[in-house]
Amino acid sequence: MLELIKRSPAYVDGYREYCSELYDHGVVWFRPTDPAFIDDTWFARTESWYSRKEQGLIEGQPKSIHYWAIDGDRFIGEFQLRTEFPPRVTEDIGSIGIAVRVSEWGKGYGTEILRQGLQLAKAHGMEKALYTVSEENAASIRICEKLGGQYADTIEAYNDAEGRHRMRRYWFTL
Ligand SMILES: CC(C)(COP(=O)(O)OP(=O)(O)OC[C@H]1O[C@@H](n2cnc3c(N)ncnc32)[C@H](O)[C@@H]1OP(=O)(O)O)[C@@H](O)C(=O)NCCC(=O)NCCS
Repeated sequence: MLELIKRSPAYVDGYREYCSELYDHGVVWFRPTDPAFIDDTWFARTESWYSRKEQGLIEGQPKSIHYWAIDGDRFIGEFQLRTEFPPRVTEDIGSIGIAVRVSEWGKGYGTEILRQGLQLAKAHGMEKALYTVSEENAASIRICEKLGGQYADTIEAYNDAEGRHRMRRYWFTL
């Protein structure tokens, strides 16, 4: 059964495998940690950085809460929640970051992570959440629309990984 949990040292090996799968597949729609950085000391080295990020204390980074998706002892993917709406959120990354390891695509995990993630967003006091997605990302558009995301508009967007692209924005009412 899929669960969203806070980051945990027990799942670091699975997290590294997940990051490697996305890197090796050349995924640009979600950039995980470079797997080369994830060694035995990585969790301890980065713990305070993530804690400060969750409190919105990292300059240039929106406040962002990180969850890992696991099924039993298998690492499946992740869910990131941005609870505020600075321009970086509204014009680029949205309230929600979601990814599933490539070897588990197409099994319903993405839908379930988003479903549980929207419940978490509500539990964090959010009344609405913005989902931003490249026009070319058909699987992500599908899970968003399937769970009731309301299409708002399509804008021209830019980030280093994707370059210039057309990005759809959807709202979830929570
Ligand atoms: C987007 C992502 C999270 C989906 O995860 P997943 O576990 O494969 O999702 P699910 O299995 O729950 O559902 C995928 C849906 O997309 C559909 N789909 C997949 N590829 C598709 C395509 N090329 N065209 C149309 N629909 C497609 C599937 O049929 C399924 O819909 P269904 O349930 O109606 O059959 C996953 O592909 C991923 O991690 N992608 C890379 C990171 C990313 O793009 N994140 C989102 C950024 S906005």
